[in-house]
Amino acid sequence: MSFSTDVKRYSDQVEQWIREKLPVLEVPEKRILEAMNYSLLAGGKRLRPVLSLAVCEMLGGNPQEVLPFACAIELIHTYSLIHDDLPCMDNDDMRRGRPTNHKVYGEAMALLAGDGLLNLAYEILLEASFKTKDNQEACLAAAHYIARAAGTAGMIGGQVIDMEAEERKLTYDELCTMHLKKTGALIKAAILTPALILKARENVCHALETYAEHIGLAFQIKDDILDVEGNSEIVGKPLRSDARNNKSTFVTLLGIKAAKEKLRLSVEHAVEAVKDMKQSEFLIQMAAYIAERDK
Ligand code: IPE
Ligand code: IPE
Ligand code: MG
Ligand code: MG
Ligand code: MG
Repeated sequence: MSFSTDVKRYSDQVEQWIREKLPVLEVPEKRILEAMNYSLLAGGKRLRPVLSLAVCEMLGGNPQEVLPFACAIELIHTYSLIHDDLPCMDNDDMRRGRPTNHKVYGEAMALLAGDGLLNLAYEILLEASFKTKDNQEACLAAAHYIARAAGTAGMIGGQVIDMEAEERKLTYDELCTMHLKKTGALIKAAILTPALILKARENVCHALETYAEHIGLAFQIKDDILDVEGNSEIVGKPLRSDARNNKSTFVTLLGIKAAKEKLRLSVEHAVEAVKDMKQSEFLIQMAAYIAERDK
């Protein structure tokens, strides 16, 4: 099967799971659910849960067991985007090809929609963990890993570095750390989650970890490049947001040529980490896709 057929197969599963899970409540406060659904169903690439399902299949696991965890990560990712776009952060008007959440629902509701998605993610993680009969410890270990990756040691910590770097220039090492945290941490959690649930061997976890770190970095470098050279209709968000906000990125600090070289090397290292593993073709093609993507 081709890479794109596999991506479609995995993302269809994710889409279906998310749609079935959405709370439809006829309550006075239902506007927050509309705001949550607005961003969640806006056509994100679903890269993180797709990666989880791909690793699950590669390790011979049952996708039904991994899906709640994979989708919880997508909910956390979506909340992080709603907050990232707020006027107090990147102040962006477009996301996933639509006006940003706060442009439609107002800042207070966008803030709450992000909080709502984050809490729903933990509800899903805990429910999936306590419902499992014979694999509770492994499921809790995965839930714990995701929580850490989303928090101040991971995505939030990276966002803090990103915001503070608007006032000063980062060093190269700080730039790498920021990218590994703000974007890499959740991508790594998506890749490690099935390995934890399926209790993969240590050498397998180690290879996946190395792969994840390199594609996490590559993914954000490409995002930085697309902010300058992308097509905003295709990317679905405004271009030059980074320059406007005086951000430190691979492009603003090193220039486009060096950013592209670092992207190429990161993909090469990612491929190196998994090329000898069984059934790693999808992961190898995913690494290439991350560098070539136009959205
Ligand atoms: C955008 O993530 C934010 C970054 C972490 C670079 P994606 O490019 O995965 O966004 P969606 O989910 O497809 O909208
Ligand atoms: C933010 O990076 C990544 C998150 C943790 C949300 P960016 O600010 O560059 O993401 P985009 O370009 O707005 O999607
Ligand atoms: Mg940002
Ligand atoms: Mg942003
Ligand atoms: Mg960006």
